[in-house]
Amino acid sequence: MARGQFISLEGGEGAGKSTQSQLLCRRLESYGIETLATREPGGSPGAEEIRVLLVSGKTERWDPLTEALLHNAARHDHVQRTILPALRRGVWVITDRFLDSTLAYQGYGQGVELDELSRMGNLAAGAAMPDLTLILDLPVDDGFARTERRSDDVSRYEQMDRAMHERLRQGFLSIAEADAARCRVIDAAPGADSVHDAVWKAVQARFDIKT
Ligand code: TMP
Repeated sequence: MARGQFISLEGGEGAGKSTQSQLLCRRLESYGIETLATREPGGSPGAEEIRVLLVSGKTERWDPLTEALLHNAARHDHVQRTILPALRRGVWVITDRFLDSTLAYQGYGQGVELDELSRMGNLAAGAAMPDLTLILDLPVDDGFARTERRSDDVSRYEQMDRAMHERLRQGFLSIAEADAARCRVIDAAPGADSVHDAVWKAVQARFDIKT
């Protein structure tokens, strides 16, 4: 059986990744492709426990390197227990965040050395490198306006300052430029259906899916 394809969705707060993940899975399923939607931090029982440590509490709860190590510990568990077994069964895995989030948030956003993060990320991800990464790009203020409407439950990251969020947005764009073979930047400002059309075009082109 052919290994499934691995797609990561990335972006700042409020970019609409989870909605796009659902829409993409539905579209792929309509072509008879079995999918698994998952997320980071989280995606396996152990990684979901680590997620609670990462998203709750005060912003200064962890220093940025500790945080990067925790994200990568969660990632390794997610890869071993969820992602690789699914890919080996031929299932396409769509993850809401992966390696690039650590580079953008803990690296560009919080100042951890990028080379160290890449080494750590490669160790954690092992054989699970995304075949395609879609970076949903949105101005920081628009993203915050969306998350404010969504809930009263503000995560640690949403409390971090605006300048950090601006740096990580630029970080995602730099990542896309440096790895153009893997990454596509999608304008996340329009409504969900238009963003989905752009996502679907990128997926069709990358995996040669005929309409
Ligand atoms: P979510 O809100 O997209 O579910 O993600 C939770 C938060 O975790 C989000 O604010 C981004 C942050 N995050 C990192 O800082 N580094 C990482 O490696 C990942 C996967 C997420």
